[in-house]
Amino acid sequence: MAADIIDGKAYAEGLRARVAQAVPGFVAAAGRKPGLAVVLVGEDPASQVYVRAKGKATIAAGLESFEHKLPDTVTQGELIALVRRLNADEAVDGILVQLPLPRGIDDKAVIAAIDPAKDVDGFTIANAGRLAVGEEALVPCTPLGCLMLLKDRLGDLSGLDAVVLGRSNIVGKPMAQLLLRENCTVTIAHSRTRDLPDVVRRADIVVAAVGRPQMVRGDWLKPGATVIDVGINRIEIGEGKTRLVGDVEFESAVDVAGAITPVPGGVGPMTIAVLLRNTLAAAFARAGLPAPEGL
Ligand code: GUN
Repeated sequence: MAADIIDGKAYAEGLRARVAQAVPGFVAAAGRKPGLAVVLVGEDPASQVYVRAKGKATIAAGLESFEHKLPDTVTQGELIALVRRLNADEAVDGILVQLPLPRGIDDKAVIAAIDPAKDVDGFTIANAGRLAVGEEALVPCTPLGCLMLLKDRLGDLSGLDAVVLGRSNIVGKPMAQLLLRENCTVTIAHSRTRDLPDVVRRADIVVAAVGRPQMVRGDWLKPGATVIDVGINRIEIGEGKTRLVGDVEFESAVDVAGAITPVPGGVGPMTIAVLLRNTLAAAFARAGLPAPEGL
């Protein structure tokens, strides 16, 4: 039987609507809109597309959007000085510095300059540490979006076997922490993992975030597993045409999995919706107001 398709686009639209509904309450209490500052350095076309989409979604949800576009000749010192100004700006609740940064700029130093209370990407060491020790934290958007989809599909995740493919600081590691917090038995697999198909075959939950097109195949999956595909890879399909595929070979996985996210339309739309959610959460926390329900 074919797997259920997890509709990330629909879930993300719902989350964006819940954010938009909660904004007037913040405005009434704080006397201003929640604000998100996005910093883009250089001319990377993919980053330009993401930043434009983030700005549009921010305004559509009723938040204030502050865009800072800097040339790739900017120095690390100038970029950090901008981050410090945004830290001090009362109208700014969230700061996102779009990655990757141009060569010569140390992204770790730039991220370290972000006030953890405004770190809506959850990339600072303070927020990563809080997540790891189980304290209130701002959590990276993509893994938090994956967790929302999993809980929406499965309810209680307690005791389930989860395999996270990929160990990046942005997705794999925080994803594993979130699943551990939900009482899953978590395995992080990566490029040096031995007998990878056997490891994946044990999992009730598979989160694939390795950036390798169609690596996970249907015969690697436990029948009925829930599969979250974080990959977005553009592949050539001949005659100069290309197609977007995930890290999972959808055509074979869909016959074995119980549920699976498609690419596109699965995890992708969740990232921006969670960014808005994190910005609103940061705004309420900074204003000393209780967080709204249902976010
Ligand atoms: N580049 C690609 N994804 C992301 C993200 O989630 N946050 C930031 N800051 N940069 C990115």
